[in-house]
Amino acid sequence: GLRNREANVLVVGLDNSGKTSLLNFLRPLEVQTNNIVPTVGFSVEHFSCHGLSFTAFDMSGQSRYRTLWANYYRTTNAIIFIIDSSDRTRIFVAREELQQLLSHPDVSKRNIPILFFANKMDTRDALSDIGVSSALSLEDITNKSWYICSSNALTGEGVVTGIEWLSSAIK
Ligand code: GTP
Ligand code: MG
Repeated sequence: GLRNREANVLVVGLDNSGKTSLLNFLRPLEVQTNNIVPTVGFSVEHFSCHGLSFTAFDMSGQSRYRTLWANYYRTTNAIIFIIDSSDRTRIFVAREELQQLLSHPDVSKRNIPILFFANKMDTRDALSDIGVSSALSLEDITNKSWYICSSNALTGEGVVTGIEWLSSAIK
C-alpha cells in the first residue's frame, strides 16, 4: 500500500467552494493562515494527517483555469471534489464540471477514489450532503469508490471524517 509513500491528491471544485481553506485547516496550527486568497493556477503542498501522507494539488476553480485540472488526472491517487453547498445556482455548474471530470479517459479508466465535501455546511442556505449528492447524481458513479460528507472548512467540522475515509480508500 501507500503507507510509507506519498499519495498525490488532486483538489478540485468551483472557485470559492473552499478548497484552499479546507487544506489550510489540515496544516499544523502554527502554519495556518487567516489570509486565504483565490488561487491562481494551482499550488502544491505536502500534508501529513490522519494516517495519510500526501501531496495536494490545490487547483484554482476559476473557469479560465479549470482546463488545468485534467493535466493531473493521470498521476493522481485520489480526487477531492469540493462543493459550496450554499451556492444553489452554481451547483449545476459544479455538476457539469464533475461530469466532464468523470468522462475524461484518465479518470473513467482508472479506479481512483473520490471524496466529496459538501462544504459551507454552516451557512443558512446550505444543502445537506444528501441534497448535494442528489444534485450531482453521485449515485450514478458505480465504478469508483466515493464518499460525501458535509464540512465547514473554517472550523474543520466534518473534515477529518472525510480525510479518514480517503486514507482508508487509498491504502
Ligand atoms: P479558488 O482558489 O478561487 O478556486 O477558491 P477556493 O475553492 O480555494 O475557495 P477559498 O478557500 O479561497 O474560500 C473562498 C471563500 O469561502 C473564503 O472567503 C472562505 O473564507 C470561505 N469559506 C470556505 N469554506 C467555508 C465554510 O465552510 N464556511 C463558510 N461560511 N465560508 C467558507
Ligand atoms: Mg483556492
